[in-house]
Amino acid sequence: MQDLVLVVDFGAQYAQLIARRVRETQVYSEVVPSNMPVAEMLAKKPSAVILSGGPSSVYAEGAPQIDAALFEADVPVFGICYGFQAMTQSLGGTVTKTGLSEYGGTELDVDSDSTLLTGLPERQSVWMSHGDSVTEAPDGFTVIGHTERTPVAAFENLDRKLAGVQYHPEVAHTPHGQAVLRHFLHDIAGIKPSWTFGNIIDEQVERIRAQVGDKRVLCALSGGVDSSVAAALVHKAVGDQLTCVFVDHGLLRQGEAEQVVNDYAQLTGIDVRAVDVSQRFLSELKGVTDPEEKRKIIGREFIRTFEQSARDLASEGEFHYLVQGTLYPDVVESGGGTGTANIKSHHNVGGLPEDLKFDLVEPLRTLFKDEVRAIGLELGLPESLVWRQPFPGPGLGIRIIGEVTHDRLEMLRAADAIARAELKAAGLERSVWQFPVVLLADVHSVGVQGDGRTYGHPVVLRPVSSEDAMTADWSRLPYELLSKISTRITNEVPEINRVVVDVTSKPPGTIEWE
Ligand code: XMP
Repeated sequence: MQDLVLVVDFGAQYAQLIARRVRETQVYSEVVPSNMPVAEMLAKKPSAVILSGGPSSVYAEGAPQIDAALFEADVPVFGICYGFQAMTQSLGGTVTKTGLSEYGGTELDVDSDSTLLTGLPERQSVWMSHGDSVTEAPDGFTVIGHTERTPVAAFENLDRKLAGVQYHPEVAHTPHGQAVLRHFLHDIAGIKPSWTFGNIIDEQVERIRAQVGDKRVLCALSGGVDSSVAAALVHKAVGDQLTCVFVDHGLLRQGEAEQVVNDYAQLTGIDVRAVDVSQRFLSELKGVTDPEEKRKIIGREFIRTFEQSARDLASEGEFHYLVQGTLYPDVVESGGGTGTANIKSHHNVGGLPEDLKFDLVEPLRTLFKDEVRAIGLELGLPESLVWRQPFPGPGLGIRIIGEVTHDRLEMLRAADAIARAELKAAGLERSVWQFPVVLLADVHSVGVQGDGRTYGHPVVLRPVSSEDAMTADWSRLPYELLSKISTRITNEVPEINRVVVDVTSKPPGTIEWE
């Protein structure tokens, strides 16, 4: 059976990050809330438990505690920051309000030979964020590191397979943090690193087969990474029982519809039914300029189309299952509940009508985005698809400021293709989170080309860097690159005579203009 490490979330923004770092040591991990009873945690038969950091002081009223029963269960436990202190308290050590807080980069001095810090420098940089400190380790523990302000900054008890650190090994600012996690998981807890992408695929394939049996499965392909990888996994599991519907609303970027319909379908052998409804979308969008109105129309028409296709296809045999590309962060953020009843209120398939009832197949439910990409590559999907930047469901419809028309879409597609090609040629495709190009279709400005006066449209370049799209900063693209993009767009797209760069962070701006 596959080893499982539970990361107990004490309310830190770091719990998910810890889970990812654990997986990077090739051990599978899941996040659980700190109010989960220890008996429930143990019922999951974890091979180790990690207690995360958190914002509380162990002395604060109502501060989350850890039930001492956890330490009697013969399960290896590792405490981080708050988890380290809660563990200390629970095991009879001392946590003191020393008044000596540490925030940010701090030097850790190693006190003795240990398993946790083996092979690491005597003095190393670690990332701290705490007020209280452990001043006395529990009985049976060896203190293995301290800092100027924290007498007990790391300890271990090899007999009981317990260890902890005051600092955050999961963040990039702790250069040897990953080694510390590895030492705990592999050497102290004795877990074999076996969570590899090949294994993930095998395991998911087994699960999908067990769930689906001989029933038919439907999937809405958007051309994005998540639905493409999810569909490829389901196809590997149940082959022809899967049918994908690709709704071409005509608001995609240059080459994208072809990429899905031809390249993807051919490469994977998946039965992809493309429905070209671009004309219908255009006529529904005629005269509409309000962003929310556009979203509503696009969402509604999308569902109508999908629903109709599902009904048409059902005449060949009923569908019992619908594939969803739900990722692990969504699962954690929505409280970790089971997903059957809860179709994500995502534009693509949200709000499916009552009479279309499906059970969900969610093969990416336990995975982070970077793992989904790695699996996509492992399954043989092309890099251009696996590394596709996020793209909004309403597509170019919300990147044309003003009414959406055929000509304006063509204009924007041409400009966008140039910007993307040049970004790629500059080798910056993966370091820029997203690169919308926005057409200010209702704005004209005067220009001069050749000997003539022009009165064309501006486009806005909106390259941003981000971790999760909740906040973002504008990307400082090299001037040379901006210059090249600008020259090419104004030369090659006759209706565009001006290129501007958006230098607004989010907040206050959003990434998209609508
Ligand atoms: P904003 O513009 O809110 O965008 O900063 C954040 C992220 O969400 C994407 N986005 C959407 N995705 N349907 C989607 O599927 C939408 O209506 C939508 N609006 C914005 C946007 O591209 C960015 O990645």
